[in-house]
Amino acid sequence: MKAVVWHGIGDIRLEDAPDPKIEDTHDAIVRVTSSAICGTDLHFVRGTMPGLREGLILGHEGVGVVEEVGGGVRNLRPGDRVVIPSTVACGVCSYCRAGYHAQCDNANPGGRRAGTVFFGGPEAAGGLDGLQAEYARVPYAHVGPVPLPDTVTDAQAILLSDIYPTAWFGAKLAEIRTGDTVAILGAGPVGQAAIACARLQGAGRIIVVDGVHDRLELARDQHAEVVDFNAEDPVEAILEMTGGIGVDRVIDAVGVDAERPARGPAAEALAEKAEEFDRERDEIAPEQHPDGDTWVPGNAPSLASRWAVQMVAKAGTIGIIGVYPPQVEQYPFGEAFMKNLTLKMGNCHHRHYIPQLVSMVAGGTLDPTPLITRWEGMRDVMEAYRTFDRREEGWTKVVLGESDDRGSGGTSTGAATTAGGRR
Ligand SMILES: NC(=O)c1ccc[n+]([C@@H]2O[C@H](COP(=O)([O-])OP(=O)(O)OC[C@H]3O[C@@H](n4cnc5c(N)ncnc54)[C@H](O)[C@@H]3O)[C@@H](O)[C@H]2O)c1
Ligand SMILES: [Zn+2]
Ligand SMILES: [Zn+2]
Repeated sequence: MKAVVWHGIGDIRLEDAPDPKIEDTHDAIVRVTSSAICGTDLHFVRGTMPGLREGLILGHEGVGVVEEVGGGVRNLRPGDRVVIPSTVACGVCSYCRAGYHAQCDNANPGGRRAGTVFFGGPEAAGGLDGLQAEYARVPYAHVGPVPLPDTVTDAQAILLSDIYPTAWFGAKLAEIRTGDTVAILGAGPVGQAAIACARLQGAGRIIVVDGVHDRLELARDQHAEVVDFNAEDPVEAILEMTGGIGVDRVIDAVGVDAERPARGPAAEALAEKAEEFDRERDEIAPEQHPDGDTWVPGNAPSLASRWAVQMVAKAGTIGIIGVYPPQVEQYPFGEAFMKNLTLKMGNCHHRHYIPQLVSMVAGGTLDPTPLITRWEGMRDVMEAYRTFDRREEGWTKVVLGESDDRGSGGTSTGAATTAGGRR
């Protein structure tokens, strides 16, 4: 079968890989009909998230059809259409039963304290082959995959594998209450999805910060208020927009590959921090293999954290879903302490949130489809990776799979979700 294989930092390839086989009674083999590229995959290629095995199949977002199940999988049959949660969980331990699937005691071969297991991730995260492949082995298949009604398309369901559950979780972490003013840092796919999730959870005003023009336009399509950090200092802008108080809640949907502003007042204000940011980046990503302007690690790893703490109101809450790997040690802790902030963070408990999101999509409350700006066949996957990495115009969420009437396939971008839009 064809799969996207990680060979090293700056080196991924589309190549032939062995077909997966049932290895355990709770396994299923799924024929992947749609997969997608996540910002997390970019960390692996840029070098900001270490520890992958050479030869690992990448990808942790998938929709597909069950081909085969082990004897312990009593709830699925070959032919069932499912969305696969990015994280893997046993369903038996106390953490899974409490809905903390990302902290499952049993899924990680490294033991109960070894941390979250997800497809196509570092050895420390289980080292499982991923979903950017024609077929995948899904462990704990009696727990993970969520069956899809016919009324939910592949294009909708693929965004329920990781992006929407993570955004929903981020809005929960941020403790959004009715009427709250919420800032979302990062207008990538996760940040875009967070707009709809924050709104559905009651946000009154939603302000999105990024430096990429077309991503901000996509956020504006969803009727978020937008702030371009290359044109304004985002902290100053948000204080001005909120009567000097700051926002009640922040969702950090950026993570370790945060960028510094390239121009404008925020760039000037941060000029003196240049060396500090360079040092942070080189400590966090000691090995980097950029290829021109592709696979370049973020040049200000702690900047989203700093801005979040500065723009939130006193006694506010910050929900962090942008990924920070274990080697990140920089956080503006004292400033957060002095403001009595609440900080919540972590890997999404995908399985906990997916069923309700499937219902919302089936019921018409949520339509994730417009976030998909390009629909590429596996054939073009390497170019799709590079273009997404460079955040080129129009490339917000890259879905891999057969192009059909369910994907936009061409140039269209659109407003996700709850509000409709102009495109
Ligand atoms: N917690 C989880 O379980 C989970 C799940 C999925 C994704 N993630 C993480 O969420 C993050 C976003 O994922 P994505 O797919 O949207 O990635 P992405 O790389 O497409 O989006 C990141 C966005 O942040 C913007 N950005 C960069 N620096 C910024 C700054 N200083 N301030 C504001 N915005 C800035 C970028 O321009 C980009 O649009 C990644 O870190 C990813 O690893 C976490
Ligand atoms: Zn992801
Ligand atoms: Zn468990």
